[in-house]
Amino acid sequence: MPPLIRLLDIHKEHPLGQRKVHALRGVSLEIREGEFVAVMGPSGSGKSTLMNLLGLMDRPSSGRYLLAGQDVQQLDHDRRATLRGREIGFIFQAFNLLGRSTAVENVELALTYAGHPRKERRRRAAEALQRVGLGDRQDHWPGQLSGGEQQRVAIARVLATGPRLILADEPTGSLDSVTGREIMGFLRDLNAAGRTILLVTHDPAVARQARRIVSMRDGQVVGDDIQAEPPAPEATPAAGPGGHSVAVPA
Ligand SMILES: Nc1ncnc2c1ncn2[C@@H]1O[C@H](COP(=O)(O)OP(=O)(O)OP(=O)(O)O)[C@@H](O)[C@H]1O
Ligand SMILES: [Mg+2]
Repeated sequence: MPPLIRLLDIHKEHPLGQRKVHALRGVSLEIREGEFVAVMGPSGSGKSTLMNLLGLMDRPSSGRYLLAGQDVQQLDHDRRATLRGREIGFIFQAFNLLGRSTAVENVELALTYAGHPRKERRRRAAEALQRVGLGDRQDHWPGQLSGGEQQRVAIARVLATGPRLILADEPTGSLDSVTGREIMGFLRDLNAAGRTILLVTHDPAVARQARRIVSMRDGQVVGDDIQAEPPAPEATPAAGPGGHSVAVPA
């Protein structure tokens, strides 16, 4: 089986007025299905740029990106959008929920690409919200939810759609430490169920929970380490409110 992700000498230049910002300078990386990888590095080192390319939200200036062996550069806009909707889940620091849609609608929208009838989408979305402990918050607007609750809606989206690849860009960056651990518990459960996770973090305690740490600096990968110790769950019971953890269908 080919690696889930294969990047070959990726460069990315962001246009900035008359100038260009060379955000990625020759990144080559392989990630196998089922890995849990933390990406670390100083501000501006290219971590989010990399995540956006991996998530098919942006295209590299040069280099190749093979996703499950498929050269995604060759795909047109619609096929990239479908692939993104089916295979990739996103969790961001700023939650990125649609402000004019309720919690359950936010989850439901993510199911559009799976092709279920509307009623089935609603049922699955409601079930995913139950699993993250938000069964009684379905009809709340994002503005009526706490940061931790909004992030759990984002997790519910991932649970409902079951993407192979989960890209999390500082998912605990805006949360207090207890809520952050809860979110990490969900991510660990998802990884235990076979999902591949790439997690950008500035927090060494968060990074320690990954099996592999990729370090970036000035748009390049400058370190790639497998941690000897298996990731130790932290003292606090991981997972959802009330201490229950989510069962993730494989
Ligand atoms: N849309 C853009 N237009 C122009 N320059 C950009 C754009 N996005 C990022 N950059 C520049 O590219 C470089 C890498 O940015 P990126 O957001 O990938 O860094 P990062 O590692 O995620 O940083 P942080 O830890 O602060 O989130 C920075 O110099 C940034 O200013
Ligand atoms: Mg960033």
